[in-house]
Parts: sequence; C-alpha cells; structure tokens
Amino acid sequence: MTNNLFLQTVNGHKKGRTPIWLMRQAGRYLPEYRTIRNTQKDFVSFCLNPKQASNVTLQPISRYQFDAAIIFSDILMIPWALERNVRFELNIGPVLDPLNTPRSFDKKLIDDLPNKLAPIGDSIRLTKENLSSETALIGFAGAPWTIMTYMAEGGSSRDFTKTRRWAWQYQKEVDALLDSLVESTISFLALQAEAGADALMLFDSWASAVPAAQRKWLVIDPTKRIVDGMRKKGHKQPIIGFPKGIGEGLISYVEQSAVQAVGLDYGVDPVWVDRNLPKNFPVQGNLDPLSLLQAGPEMSKDIDYILDAFVSRPHIFNLGHGITPTTPIENVQLMVNQVRQREK
Ligand code: CP3
Repeated sequence: MTNNLFLQTVNGHKKGRTPIWLMRQAGRYLPEYRTIRNTQKDFVSFCLNPKQASNVTLQPISRYQFDAAIIFSDILMIPWALERNVRFELNIGPVLDPLNTPRSFDKKLIDDLPNKLAPIGDSIRLTKENLSSETALIGFAGAPWTIMTYMAEGGSSRDFTKTRRWAWQYQKEVDALLDSLVESTISFLALQAEAGADALMLFDSWASAVPAAQRKWLVIDPTKRIVDGMRKKGHKQPIIGFPKGIGEGLISYVEQSAVQAVGLDYGVDPVWVDRNLPKNFPVQGNLDPLSLLQAGPEMSKDIDYILDAFVSRPHIFNLGHGITPTTPIENVQLMVNQVRQREK
C-alpha cells in the first residue's frame, strides 16, 4: 500500500492523523504566487506554462507541507480548448463568448483536446519529479453542469438564470452539450492520469443552482458517466466529487455518482453528514474559508467540531470552498498546526 496518508484516506482507510490540503492552496494569498503571477499577464498562458505552473503548485507544499498538491490549472481550460475564447479579466474574473443556445461540439475539436491541453500533462510530470512520495498530486476538471453555466452565462453569474432556463426549455440540446462535456472531461482527466496524477477531483461548484428534480440528470448522471468512462479506459485513480451546495442531495450523489470520496462545502453540518452518509465513505472538508480572515477562538472551535464529527470516518481536512486572496498566511499556519496537533 501507498505511504501517502491522503491516498490511504481517499481509499477508505483511517489511520493516525487527518491529512490536510486546501482548495485554491496555490493562489493569490501567497506572496510567492503573486510574484510569479505578476510576470505573466495572461492567465491561460500561465496555466499552459509547465515550468511556472509546476513551480506555483509546489509553493504551498514548501510552506505548509500539505499532504496533497493540486496541479495549477483551471476548470475553464476545457471551454478554452473548445474555443470559447476564455480570458481572465482583472477585477471581473473569467469571460467567455456565451453560447446562444446549448449544442454539441464538433468531434474534431474534442479529439484535438489532448493536443491543446498537453502542457498540463507536462506540468504534472514535472511536478511529480519534485514531489516526495508522501505528497499526493491531484489533477482536476470542472463537472459538466458547472462548465455549462460558464458557457451559457459567458462568465461567473449570480443566479444562473440562462443556464437554468435552458434546462427546462431545451432538454435535448442540453443533453447534446452535456455529452460533449462528458467526453471532453474524460479526455482531460485521462491525460492527467496518464501524466501521473494520483487522484482526480471534479468541481461542481454551482451544483447548488440545480433544482432537486433535475439533480440526477444534470449533476449525478454526468458525474457517473465520467467516473465510468475513466474506469473503462483503465484509470484507477480515486475520484473526489465536489457538488457544492447540494445539501441533502449529498445522499443520492454519494449513492449514485460512483465517486470514491466527496468534498463538503462549508454550508453542510459535518454531524449531519456523518449520520447520513454510508459508514466509512471518505469525506473532505469543510471549514468556512472566511473563518481564516479572523482566525481566533471561533475558527479553532469549528476546526475541532469538524474533526470531532469525523473521528470514526476517513476524513481529509480542507476548506468548504477555495481560500480567499486576502487570507493572512499566518492564519493558515495556525489552522494547519491545530489539525496536526490532533495527531494520534
Ligand atoms: O490551488 C489550486 O486550487 C489549483 C488551481 C485552481 C485554480 N482554479 C487556479 C486559479 C483550481 C483547482 C481552480 C478551480 C476553479 N476555477 C473552480 C472550481 C473551484 C471553485 O472555486 O469553485 C472554478 C469555479 C474556477 C473558475 C475560475 N478561475 C474563476 C471563477 C476565477 C476567477 C475568480 C477569482 O478567484 O479570481 C478563476 C481564476 C483563478 N483560477 C485564479 C487561480 C489561482 C485566480 C486568478 C489569478 O491568479 O489571477
């Protein structure tokens, strides 16, 4: 068996201390990240520069010795490869050419995806060379529903009105778009698995926008098709699903999506999770990232609440969403210390 605590835990074994890593751990809260980021104007080129991407992937590992690294890239690299003119604008965020109506993508475009995204495979190979066997490397992609929201809305959105309307108005066309995204995602994850990623994560950041009646169709089934597609190709890496804000839908997501572990957002009560998910099903999460702005006794109490809730379940400590850019680096250290001090 692997000597990596994160991988042991994702695979359902609970031993010794709780492994820890953070969503968006390579990012703007780190001064060393901002230094490199400032040398690159264009975010997409930055993601496609293996040397720089690998370098920033390793930054939070050197600083905090997290149990897992996550490769520096973005979920919007798939829409970029599908030629949706993805760019990242200062103080706005991602901007894409919006699709007018849902549709499938050209087979030629999907087949070419591994060529366009090959540099991310190179980033993974380069990072693996510089990572000890005790630190796992996570590859990732966005889940089809979340990617569809960016393609429909042309960027981030408050309430996803256009995407949600599509789901009621254009069911056949939405299916065609989801098919293309499922196929693209399998291709992108397979590329990362072949390059040496030890585990994979599917970010369904806007699963919260899907009504319960449509969850199976828009969130669970596309996820299951991706997991099944990876297994069919012979890739055995554990897959962590992150259906953010899905609430009680976590129960059916875990039962039906075939993922090996689930990421918990900061809104779900860990005590409820432990009572309602199958015994021994691995979970990851779920401290509110904003608690790190303040640190102090309230944060400390919530860290203990989370660790206590999962004492008898395989649990990877993480935040319930990405760390925010204004987080003081010393507060991250306080959180890490507290989680590590509970080592048995
Ligand atoms: O450290 C890591 O987690 C690895 C890299 C990573 C990034 N994005 C780098 C990034 C990961 C795993 C992501 C995932 C991602 N990207 C998600 C899913 C997770 C979540 O937050 O829900 C989403 C929705 C995106 C799309 C995206 N990328 C947005 C909305 C933005 C802009 C918002 C913002 O925070 O500025 C990005 C840009 C982005 N991706 C940054 C980073 C470090 C910041 C941009 C910069 O450095 O200039």
